[in-house]
Amino acid sequence: MSVPARAERTLKVNGESHVAPEASTRLLSFLRDELSLTGAKFGCGEGSCGACTVLVGGRPVFSCQATVGEVGEEEVTTIEGADSPVARALQEALAAEGASQCGYCSPGMVLRASALLEGKPRPSEAEVREAMSANLCRCGCYKRLTAGILRAAGATATATATATATATNRVAGETPGEGFRPARPFDLTPPEERQWFELLGDGIIATSSPALEAASAGRSGAWIHLSPSGEVTAFCGKVDVGQDNTTAFRLLVAEELSVDPGQVGVVLGDTDLCPYDMGTFASRSMPDAGEALCQVAAGLRHHLEAKAGARLGLPARAVQAREGAVRSDGAVLDYGELATGARVVEVVGPGQRLLAPSRRLPAGPIRPSRREAFSGARRFVSDMRLPGMAIGLVIHPPAPGDKLARIDRAALAGMAGVQLVEEEGFVGLVADDLAAGLAGLRALSPQFETGAPSFSDLEEYLRHHPAEPGGWAGRFEEASGELDEGLAGASFRFEATYTAPFIAHVPLETRAALARFDRGRLTVHVGTQTPFRVRAELAEALGMDEADIRVIVGPTGGAFGGKHGSDVALEAARLSRAAGRAVLVHWTRREEFTSGYLRPAAVIDVRAGLGSDGALASFELVDTNAGAAGLSFPYRAAARRLRFQPSTSPLPQGSYRALAATANHFARESAIDELAAIAGKDPASYRLALLEDRRLAELLELALERFGWQEKSSEERGLGVALGLEKGGRVVTCVEVRSDREGFRVARVLTAYDCGRLVNRDAVANQVEGATMMALGGALFEEICLRQGRQQTTRLSEYRLPRFEDLPALEVELLDRPEEPAAGAGETPMVAVAPAVANALFDASGLRLRSLPLLPAYRREVG
Ligand code: FES
Ligand code: FES
Repeated sequence: MSVPARAERTLKVNGESHVAPEASTRLLSFLRDELSLTGAKFGCGEGSCGACTVLVGGRPVFSCQATVGEVGEEEVTTIEGADSPVARALQEALAAEGASQCGYCSPGMVLRASALLEGKPRPSEAEVREAMSANLCRCGCYKRLTAGILRAAGATATATATATATATNRVAGETPGEGFRPARPFDLTPPEERQWFELLGDGIIATSSPALEAASAGRSGAWIHLSPSGEVTAFCGKVDVGQDNTTAFRLLVAEELSVDPGQVGVVLGDTDLCPYDMGTFASRSMPDAGEALCQVAAGLRHHLEAKAGARLGLPARAVQAREGAVRSDGAVLDYGELATGARVVEVVGPGQRLLAPSRRLPAGPIRPSRREAFSGARRFVSDMRLPGMAIGLVIHPPAPGDKLARIDRAALAGMAGVQLVEEEGFVGLVADDLAAGLAGLRALSPQFETGAPSFSDLEEYLRHHPAEPGGWAGRFEEASGELDEGLAGASFRFEATYTAPFIAHVPLETRAALARFDRGRLTVHVGTQTPFRVRAELAEALGMDEADIRVIVGPTGGAFGGKHGSDVALEAARLSRAAGRAVLVHWTRREEFTSGYLRPAAVIDVRAGLGSDGALASFELVDTNAGAAGLSFPYRAAARRLRFQPSTSPLPQGSYRALAATANHFARESAIDELAAIAGKDPASYRLALLEDRRLAELLELALERFGWQEKSSEERGLGVALGLEKGGRVVTCVEVRSDREGFRVARVLTAYDCGRLVNRDAVANQVEGATMMALGGALFEEICLRQGRQQTTRLSEYRLPRFEDLPALEVELLDRPEEPAAGAGETPMVAVAPAVANALFDASGLRLRSLPLLPAYRREVG
């Protein structure tokens, strides 16, 4: 590519010519910061994720790597300018397939796929995977992405779209929107003093009472507004970070109120407008907020029936709310009619009579419109730009345990466009732009001292550094029967240790926050799972009243349990307060790896005793460090003990999708397989004979039948099964692997899932598929590497994640139990993947691996 002289250099982007900056300027930076074309995303900065993909002369290019000079005179196309027939077909097809969750990878996917289809209009599935391999989807939507690309190519003609209604999610920031600023946050204001009608106009409000909120685990509340036009707007304090609980909430409200889901808007994650909620984690959206929304919707329905009955002079039993109206034998009163001229606030208590399943309107499959994800119109916090906004940079230690020792303040003197901010151990810069900020950071040349512990064996370290329990790491012990006697008297005794490493969340959008002060009030846009906790932590750290802080969670590029707490929000707020202007802080990938927290490493000891008939006499599982999640034991055993011992972790650790349940299931389900082998039984039959939980036994039978389970597999082909019981959901995972001396490959995964009442089948299937892909990463290759206790993994290129090439044949079987409460779907589907892979590998090779990740362990053993 040629580099023209400076004076004549222009850059053509989406059909328009722009004066080009310095030839060494990164294309991504020019597009985002100068042209506000934010469809190209920052994901890694090193050519490892594809989030920044644009087309240069029709070829896909990592804009984080290419310089403006390298582009030369070729035309750049970003997602904002991608309007070719192929690009439009892709956007349609990918949206119809529901091929996204958070949507952060979606623009890059469209552009790379359009380059493929322009050159090869009818690619095979293998060619799609190969061509797309440079682009990562951390949400794991590879199956749907592949299907969407093939669909756009005309290679598939599925009927999915015709059977699927679409609806537009109304999330925080869209409607009623941040443009409205109440005098005080609604959750800190008594219902009668809230500015409902200034926000929403006339109508009827139904709001949860304190008793209803207390009755919901996690104190979830809900409120719902019915407008004179019949529009319904529901508010709750959960957030949607890609899991699409928004659509499930919409469906629940629509069903309970008996209205079309298209009439229901949902507002989430705005602390000024939404009810308090502890946070969106542990698969609590449906049990907490879903239940609160159902109760409030039922309360509103009862109110409407009573009002209509009074208007018609009929007793309540003579009218019925149905299909957007209250009906009697001879009259119909639309909901909107009943709300006209009203300014009523109905406070709803717990125990509302919900509609019987037979009376719920079947809404049909709802798939939210995801077109805005594929068109680049979905804007994340890191995409936000405000007039006069500054860029914030913070000095973070290069590795956990390091401490800032000194900076060269004098070197900053005279540098234009940067301001140093120091308070309470915090050191950051406010800069006019990123280039000035980076120059300022280099000038400060921060020096660090390490305070990290030094050790060579993580397992030994965790065993010998017990910690006092606290937070999620509360000590846990559950025991029944005489364990030691059972072990002593067993015909066969079994002991084994299973381990899992620290792993990282790696949301494709690294942490970002935009803070601004206005007349003493702070507003922070941040991708977090805990907006109310962030508000409280900001108030404490900044010495402010919570009522003067608003936290808004808009579209967020993934979280997976990794975006709790106020870290980046507080950094942006401190810098904004010091600089007196809006400040955006967007962490680098390195900061995301080293300044967040990790999934805890696990050391798990299992002891078991079998009777002479192979029956389980005793079973003990002791988890050191990872946590108590998933320690429940679904099998029959005369004696059992399940215990969690917290450790002092050498690295920061915390919440993660399914947290310890993955490691605990890996240990238990691997051990059960080993016990079946000792007893000379087929592992699936062995489980069936021991299972105590009826729903799980039925699910296992269903999975085995669908999978085509065989007792013995061929050489090099192995089948494995594992199951899980967690957070009210039940899961069975069946896996087929192919192995040889080079390694092994997961060829097929079937997940059978029972989450009780299925509120939104398509969203649950999408979550199961994504959770399976994420779990395959942890099972096969994800690992934070340590050397003498120091974290070595700091870049995406050093951390292997699931990609298109890792996609197995992925099947999902969902068991609907309308009579059971809805459990979440984001976490439990992943817990049985790793043991099912390990068990399949044992079936194929006779090799039993007890340490995650399995692929390097396999190579060590075989090679
Ligand atoms: Fe450019 Fe990851 S490849 S941001
Ligand atoms: Fe692909 Fe989230 S949808 S990264």
